Amino acid sequence: MTTIKLPQPHCFLHTFVTIENMRRVIPSLLLFLLAPISAYSQAIQYAPERKIWLLNTTHSSYAIGVNSEGQLQNLYWGGPLWRTDDITNAAQYRDLSSFDPHQMLENEEYPGWGGPRFYQPALKIMRANGDRDLVLHYRSHRMGQNDLEIVMKDIRDDIEVTLHYRVYPEEGMIRRYSTIQNKTKAPITVESAQSATWYMPPGDGYRLSYLSGRWAAETQLNREPIHEGMKIIESRLGHTGHNFNPWFAVDRGDAAEEHGSVWFGALAWSGNWRISVEQTPYQQVRVTGGLNTFDFSYSLKPGESLDTPEFYAGYAANGFGEASRLLHHLELMDIEPHGAKARVRPVLYNSWEATEFNVNEQGQKALAEKAAKLGVELFVMDDGWFGKRNTDRAGLGDWFVNKEKFPNGLNPLIEYVNKLGMDFGLWVEPEMVNPDSDLYRAHPDWVMNFPGRPRSELRNQLVLNLARSDVRDYIYSALDKLASDYKIKYFKWDMNRIFSEPGWPEEAPAEQRKLWVQYVRNLYDIIDRLRAKHPYLEIESCSGGGGRIDLEILKRVEEFWTSDNTEAFDRLRIQEGFSQAYAAKFMSAWVTDVPNMNGRSTPLKYRFLVAMQGALGIGANLNKWTDEDTKLATDMVTLDKRIRNTVQEGSLYRLLSPRMGDVTANEYVSQDGKEAVLFAFRHSQQYMTQVPPIGLQGLDPRGVYKLESIDGKLVSQQSEMSGAYLMQYGLQLKLTGDYDSTAVLLHRVQ
Ligand code: GLA
Repeated sequence: MTTIKLPQPHCFLHTFVTIENMRRVIPSLLLFLLAPISAYSQAIQYAPERKIWLLNTTHSSYAIGVNSEGQLQNLYWGGPLWRTDDITNAAQYRDLSSFDPHQMLENEEYPGWGGPRFYQPALKIMRANGDRDLVLHYRSHRMGQNDLEIVMKDIRDDIEVTLHYRVYPEEGMIRRYSTIQNKTKAPITVESAQSATWYMPPGDGYRLSYLSGRWAAETQLNREPIHEGMKIIESRLGHTGHNFNPWFAVDRGDAAEEHGSVWFGALAWSGNWRISVEQTPYQQVRVTGGLNTFDFSYSLKPGESLDTPEFYAGYAANGFGEASRLLHHLELMDIEPHGAKARVRPVLYNSWEATEFNVNEQGQKALAEKAAKLGVELFVMDDGWFGKRNTDRAGLGDWFVNKEKFPNGLNPLIEYVNKLGMDFGLWVEPEMVNPDSDLYRAHPDWVMNFPGRPRSELRNQLVLNLARSDVRDYIYSALDKLASDYKIKYFKWDMNRIFSEPGWPEEAPAEQRKLWVQYVRNLYDIIDRLRAKHPYLEIESCSGGGGRIDLEILKRVEEFWTSDNTEAFDRLRIQEGFSQAYAAKFMSAWVTDVPNMNGRSTPLKYRFLVAMQGALGIGANLNKWTDEDTKLATDMVTLDKRIRNTVQEGSLYRLLSPRMGDVTANEYVSQDGKEAVLFAFRHSQQYMTQVPPIGLQGLDPRGVYKLESIDGKLVSQQSEMSGAYLMQYGLQLKLTGDYDSTAVLLHRVQ
């Protein structure tokens, strides 16, 4: 999927080649030839005399070093290098003035807040006596094949920080996080704990790309110049959040989809996170990310430590498209549960938009029959099956089957679904409680709260304090029971509100703010235990749509629910943003009924093709579909099964952006390069203009591809074309009117 580019051996070697000197030069020639390659293929190189580390991937190198004072500095981040000799030593700067001390000029790899350093620190602490000065110096390091740990220590106290680096050589990525350890004899309070600071090469004129949004309008792509000062993207809401996603990309202002340098990263944390992008007056551009400092305080007793979230980053020389493909590849290989062995996502049906809370055995069976006929493989029953859950006013917390709706429990439905050849999935929202529930009546103290203060309800629900171990264990047992009693393949795990009044009154005041971190850890713990006990189980991460999409939850779930907005035209932009950071395989995308939430109606085929760019689902009311709809849907599901390997696990090329014109086009190329699929959408044709030829990407110019149009909208008459022509000239498509769409499959024949 990603190509491995080794540096070319030097071509002037032929000047050596004469018979007489062959014997003499061959050994040194071999050494010369192999040196750069072996040095390059070594993921971590270390020059002990100069204390410089060089971390290498196929696409990038990253260098750090220790200066004569013992400070760890970032020395390089960019395209691949192959020898440490070239790298300038970590510098000893001089004060520019008493207002611009040398400490402010240095690219410190993991700066503590101490001395005259007033940029965004990676670590800020307070000692029991109020002393807050922290200056970290190099102490020791350990190296493995792909791992490096550098231990830093305060210049006086035994406050230690271990910087963890992992190199993913093939994936072109580096992962960092830190462990903060209190080895002193008194408690300390951590006031800011960041995972990493990343430095762009010195300069200005950079540009930031980031994803922002809100409920039903998630992952909107923004690009804006970086100027002096600081830009913060973050969540203070308790979960990853709809408002920003923990991903960034920085370029020099001139990168495009397939060209230009891009430095990018994704923070792996599903709670309060923060990424700051800071340009100083000294031509430094620094990206610092980790736990949000908002309402943050984390005390460490003697001997205790705190691990920060993992922060993955990479460099791409060939634009935003390559940056995305590197991240996608990492996710597919190293992040998702089961990694490279994970199955492609099945076609799913979900009853929510058809029935809302009005579920029962008979109704679900009727929908299941219809779904099975379409070729659906996973049937998911959504909200409404438990407790007194007839509206969103009651029932959350009572995870037992509603006997009025399912008098014989869930087994008759599950068996029926299985007999139809489908797996069964179930909606749960374990972190929440309605005040009108047996659970809340029994345990009003289990929700986060400040005693005597109001408990703000959102969607008539309160947030359980998962940081408490009794709450964690209750949730685990409830889900474990469901997974043990019933043959459940899939939980759609929802989380439908943000935090409020995040109090933990049972803890001492100095400990209470640990809730922000402990909640998330316990969430991970519950899922980890569940998955370990029920290896058959898969999970979808949903939070009122795309409120919990990040790399740490992705280690524990198979899919993200991208957005509650399933309107196909809106989805083009949501999906474009999502694809910057996350692979198509993890993007649940449903076909639903029209008119949709914004009143727009698009053709069923258009809705299918939009959704088939991710993990296809159907969320429509199948009882209302005509025979014609059913026939089209059956054909589309069959088509999806033919192309889903390519879409879900292949390389994505975003050819035309929905932000730019009235045509959107995306292309996916399979891992082995033998298959490709082009999707194209026309929003609104004006003045009878034709769609200009769409140039493809990622093909072999010398290869020949057989073209298969799904609907005859391909203008070109040739049935086979070379990769060169397809990429240089492109494919001409006949897309007319409003919301027209097509797909072309390419099969390599030569
Ligand atoms: C959230 C989800 C929806 C649906 C409802 C059920 O809004 O995003 O898909 O599951 O909850 O209440």
